[in-house]
Amino acid sequence: MFWAVANLIGLQDEFVLKRFYEPSLLSRCLMTSFDYLTQRQQSLREHKRFRNLVARQLDGVHVIDPDGRRLLNFGANDYLGLGMEMRGNEGRQDGQSLGNADLDSRVTGGSGASALLSGWTTCHERLSNQIAELEETEAAILFPTGFAACSGAVSALAEAGDLILSDELNHASLIDGCRLSRAECVVYPHRDWQKADHILQRRRQEFARVWIVTNTVFGMDGDLAPVDHLQEVAEKHDASVIADEAHGTGVLGNDGSGLCDALGVKNRIAIRIGTLSKAVGSQGGFVAAPRVVVDHLVNHCRSLIYSTSLAPAAVTASLAGIGEIRTRPERRRRVQKLARHVRSELSIAVANDLEASVPIIPVVVGTDPRVIEVSAQLAKSGFYVPAIRPPTVPEGTARLRISLSAAHETKMVDELLFAIRNLM
Ligand SMILES: Cc1ncc(COP(=O)(O)O)c(C=O)c1O
Repeated sequence: MFWAVANLIGLQDEFVLKRFYEPSLLSRCLMTSFDYLTQRQQSLREHKRFRNLVARQLDGVHVIDPDGRRLLNFGANDYLGLGMEMRGNEGRQDGQSLGNADLDSRVTGGSGASALLSGWTTCHERLSNQIAELEETEAAILFPTGFAACSGAVSALAEAGDLILSDELNHASLIDGCRLSRAECVVYPHRDWQKADHILQRRRQEFARVWIVTNTVFGMDGDLAPVDHLQEVAEKHDASVIADEAHGTGVLGNDGSGLCDALGVKNRIAIRIGTLSKAVGSQGGFVAAPRVVVDHLVNHCRSLIYSTSLAPAAVTASLAGIGEIRTRPERRRRVQKLARHVRSELSIAVANDLEASVPIIPVVVGTDPRVIEVSAQLAKSGFYVPAIRPPTVPEGTARLRISLSAAHETKMVDELLFAIRNLM
C-alpha cells in the first residue's frame, strides 16, 4: 500500500522513501488535518453564519423546497422572467411562448474548447455582435460567467504603475479583478464621486493610467452609482471608467442596455461589463468596448483565454434574451413599476424615480438570527425571500433581499407585502 502511494506521489528519492517508512510521518503527510476548518465552521454556526446549499426545484415563478413546499420565488435575478420562460415556456402571463426561432434550435452540451481554439462558434460571434449593437460599441466579447468577465477584464486592463479607484460596495468579481491586477487600488466611500475626484487631484500624476471601477446597480442595496459624475471625474483626470452593468442590463435605460444609457453617458463610458445570467435569462458574461480593448482581452485576459467558452445552449438562450430586451420594452417597464410599488408600500427612501425602479429591494432587519427568523417565517407563509448576512453586507445590516421579476403578478407582490408587514 505504502509503495503504491509513494509511486503515485512520485517519491523516487531513496532518502525521502526511508523517511516516509516511519508510520507516524507517513500518516501525518497523507492525512492532512482539516480540524482548523471544522473549528471555523463551528464558529460560523454559533454566529448563525454557516451557509449550506439547499437543492430546490425551479417551477416557473415558484421554487419547491426539499420538503415539498411550493414557495413564490423572490430570490432570483431573473428580472424580466426570461430565464423561467426559457426553462419551460412557463411563467408568462399572456400564456404565449417566447416565439423566438433561436429557442427551437436549443442544444445541450459544452463548447469543448476555449474561445481561441474551437470554442468560438458562429453562434458566439452572432451573440457578441448583437451585444455590441445593443451596447453601441465597436465590439463585444463573451465570457463563461459575469464573474469571469469582471475579474478578467479589470485584471487584464489595469497594470503595475496604474491606479484603480473602486467603490467600497463593488461586487466580489470586481474586487478580485483589482486584487489580481498589479495596480494600486484605493477604495472610495460608497458612491462618493467627490472623494474620487479629490484622490485624483492629489495623486493623478503618480500613475500611468487610472481606472474607476464600479457596479452601476449595487446588488445588495439596489441603489445606483453616480456613473455620470464618475465619468466627469474620469474625463477631468484622464482616467477610464469600467462600469459593471450586471443588474442594469435589460432593466434600465431606454434601450435596455442599463444605467449608463439611463444617465446619458452610454457613449462616453467606453468599457461596460454585463452578465447574461440575470435579466437576459441565460448564463455567461460579456465586455462591450472599443475593438482595441476587446482585442487586448482576447490576447491577455486569463479568464477568457484559459477557460472553456460559453456553452452553446447558453449562447442560444442569450440570443433569445437579448432579442427580447431589444424588442419588448414592456417587460422592463413592468418590473420597474412593481419595484416602485414595493418601495412605496414599504416606505423605502430613494434618491429619485430611476432608483425607485430598480427591482432589488433590501429590507434591512439588523441581526443575523432575526433575519433568518423572518426569512423562515416568510417561507412558512409561502414566500422565498433570501436572508443576506455579513460578510456579504456590512455588520448589523443583515437583510431580506427582495428580487422582483416581470413574471410576478401584482397580486403575488401584494401578498408578499402583507406577509412582511405582519412580521416586522
Ligand atoms: C454586480 C455583479 N457583477 C458580476 C456578477 C457576476 O455575474 P455572474 O453571476 O454571471 O457570474 C454579479 C452576480 O451576482 C453581480 O451582482
